[in-house]
Amino acid sequence: MRSLIHVKRVVVVLVVLIFGIAALLQAQVLSDTTAVTADPTLLSGDASLTTATSTPARDPGVRGGEAGAGGPINGLTARQLEFFATGKDDFEEVEVVADGLGPRMNLDSCAACHTQPATGGTSPFVNPQVAFASKDGGTDGVPFFITLNGPIREARFKFNPDGSRDGGVHNTATITGRTGADGCALAQPDFDTEFSKNNLIFRIPTPLFGAGLIEQIPDRVILANQAANTASKRQFGIRGRPNLAKSGKTVTGSTNNNGNDGTIARFGWKAQNESLLLFSGEAYNVEMGISNELFQQEREQTLGCQFATVPNDVTDTEVTTTPAGLNAIEKFAFFQRFLAPPTPSPDTPGGATSIGRGRSLFVSTGCALCHTPTLTTGDSTVAALNNQPVNLFSDILVHAMGPGLADNILQGEAQGDEFRTAPLWGLGQRIFFLHDGRTMDLGEAIQAHKSAGNSQFGPSEANAVIDNFNRLNEGKKQDLLNFLRSL
Ligand code: HEC
Ligand code: HEC
Repeated sequence: MRSLIHVKRVVVVLVVLIFGIAALLQAQVLSDTTAVTADPTLLSGDASLTTATSTPARDPGVRGGEAGAGGPINGLTARQLEFFATGKDDFEEVEVVADGLGPRMNLDSCAACHTQPATGGTSPFVNPQVAFASKDGGTDGVPFFITLNGPIREARFKFNPDGSRDGGVHNTATITGRTGADGCALAQPDFDTEFSKNNLIFRIPTPLFGAGLIEQIPDRVILANQAANTASKRQFGIRGRPNLAKSGKTVTGSTNNNGNDGTIARFGWKAQNESLLLFSGEAYNVEMGISNELFQQEREQTLGCQFATVPNDVTDTEVTTTPAGLNAIEKFAFFQRFLAPPTPSPDTPGGATSIGRGRSLFVSTGCALCHTPTLTTGDSTVAALNNQPVNLFSDILVHAMGPGLADNILQGEAQGDEFRTAPLWGLGQRIFFLHDGRTMDLGEAIQAHKSAGNSQFGPSEANAVIDNFNRLNEGKKQDLLNFLRSL
């Protein structure tokens, strides 16, 4: 028996060696081909190509220049532009205790978290959560995972003390000490202890540019795309399934599981929320502590810490005009729905030719099997969103990404190791990557897709594709990175 195992081991080692050598040879062949077939007209002025096989590929970094994002989508009517502008104002408004902020929250405005490179985006270079801890007389400590040059983070706990599932957001800040909060004394969660118990995970903000287009992709389009290219997907071990909506999971973990309508949820790192209105209502209450018409109850009801009537924000029934009379979450939703998709750069970084090659490699390597370049909206009531291409680079499905990325949080149908294929549009101007913002480097974000299985989670569905990527020569990798930063 033992010798049999031994023989098996030797065979395994031999196979690994042979494959390794084959991979090296293939890499060599690939780089040779590039050298031979490279178009000589491209060599001048394209540093990445001339140094193709010698210089290691690297992330060109955040693309500077124009934001190319933050404005309204083309084709809105004058009235729709009014809804956009009013929504934007409210999205940018900084709220205080008298408005209902808190008693527990992560920050004090939507735009504080969704800001890079323009309102509606993601984490900026300087994390505003640090200064916010002591803003307005606040006495909060700054949790260890919030740093000045790190990403904005919200925290979730995997389990409750009794071992049951939690999964909910535990806020980093309180109103204790702040103007208008006299007599309220709330302790922050003990993040250090939860971290030492391996019970703490993080999420960073996702971008909202083009979100109205994503909202209008019919379920049938998502399902048809899921059913396309099955042969290649099977070959690469890619599955993916839609996250069918189950309401409430994001807030309370296990107690509130109303099934609602069963259509495909699509917003958030685990595609956990159905619509922009729903996400806005949730974010207002969870991120800022402002209860509203969708989420009527305060999450923290400690007496002595309530300084505004509940729900904190409602439709103003006395105002007879729109958008003025709308409640805030409707305004946020309108702003996001009418927010234009990000504008990719035709030639930065690395030049148009390199970006073009990178675009093809993105497909041939297999990235596009999950990061679907384009889906299309359906017959939308809003003309500007009607039958439009959506160049989001996502299939809106959740995929098992292995133990390396798993956060062990369940949301709707999404399991502990499953995440929505992150839409890549606007990537060129993003600073932090992956659901917890663990890296600022595109190369590392790509490598993090690869993960062997363990006793708890299976291997990542992306493993074979990342192996493909790793077999590209450095010049081709650079083309692919340039393409990603052009988005
Ligand atoms: C403290 C930071 C913070 C604040 C404040 C904040 N958000 Fe977010 N936002 C996040 C994070 C983190 C996520 C990802 C959450 C997840 O998937 O678990 C997110 C995701 C979203 C999404 C999902 C987009 C997508 O495609 O995935 C929407 C919509 C959204 N936020 C809207 C809002 C609105 C509206 C407000 C103001 C009421 C707001 N956010 C305030 C941090 C914030
Ligand atoms: C099996 C599906 C799958 C494949 C194949 C795949 N990805 Fe991803 N990708 C994902 C998922 C899911 C995430 C989000 C993971 C997370 O945040 O934990 C992601 C995230 C990313 C991110 C970070 C985006 C962000 O918003 O932070 C980049 C960049 C990226 N992928 C690029 C690539 C490239 C390049 C390839 C091909 C070499 C590739 N991906 C192949 C599913 C896939």
